[in-house]
Amino acid sequence: MKLDFEKKFIERLSTAKKVVFFTGAGISAESGIPTFRGSDGIWNKMKPEELASFDAFMRNPDLVWEWYQHRRNIINNTKPNAGHIAIAELEKYYDVTVVTQNIDNLHRRAGSTKIFELHGNIERNYCIDCKTFYNSPELEISSGVPKCKKCGGLIRPDVVWFGEMLPHDQYSGGEQAAEKSDICFVVGTSAVVYPAAYIPMTAKQAGSFVVEINIEPTDLTRYADYSIFGKAGEILPEIVDIVKQIKGE
Ligand code: OAD
Ligand code: ZN
Repeated sequence: MKLDFEKKFIERLSTAKKVVFFTGAGISAESGIPTFRGSDGIWNKMKPEELASFDAFMRNPDLVWEWYQHRRNIINNTKPNAGHIAIAELEKYYDVTVVTQNIDNLHRRAGSTKIFELHGNIERNYCIDCKTFYNSPELEISSGVPKCKKCGGLIRPDVVWFGEMLPHDQYSGGEQAAEKSDICFVVGTSAVVYPAAYIPMTAKQAGSFVVEINIEPTDLTRYADYSIFGKAGEILPEIVDIVKQIKGE
């Protein structure tokens, strides 16, 4: 597939300096990680209030821990796809900031260096009592929720659950990058979960050119300056090719 990109988009690519990628579960779909919404989505099979809330964890910590352990296993057995790699590659040409809703660490594994994680990271965990942090590989692999070595408290994944605040430094870092960006790509997100979904709107209000990449229209489509419909893992490498042409490579 060779796409015919809109002229205005090509012009922006040639003048842009700061580029933001606001990403969601769709960018990791081609790595084999399930998305949340849609017919095969996680929230179609499981109830978020039973698995992804602090109350759920306190009611049944082992069940919630096992579910995250299952997701860690999927993530550990996969790798970044062409979409993640293309974003990392664009650091050669732009000041790129990734603002992601994903907890899967795949942007970092692909080589992106400036990343704000709005919903946490499944590789990190902390004790709910004394807040000591533990990386996932450090935790003993046994069944059920692990306990803190310092105080015996329950250890939870460092992810944002329903009803919880986003990490302030991550959100404000993402927001500032969006405000300063010349182009804000919105990749593989339904853009229905707030406050995360304010990021592309902040970019748009500040005059950034908002480019959506998704397999289908979303709530954000009417705000986007340009929408490209297709798989992130196919479209993003084509954007890298165009950028290389623009930069004379
Ligand atoms: P969703 O599952 O809501 O949306 C995934 C989006 O990716 C959809 O719009 C799909 O059309 C699109 N998509 C799927 N495959 C794609 C592909 N190969 N290329 C491009 N697009 C593709 O996931 P998110 O928007 O990330 O929150 O969900 C937002 C938040 O809701 C998550 O961070 C999570 C969830 O509840 C928390 O855990 C706090
Ligand atoms: Zn502790």
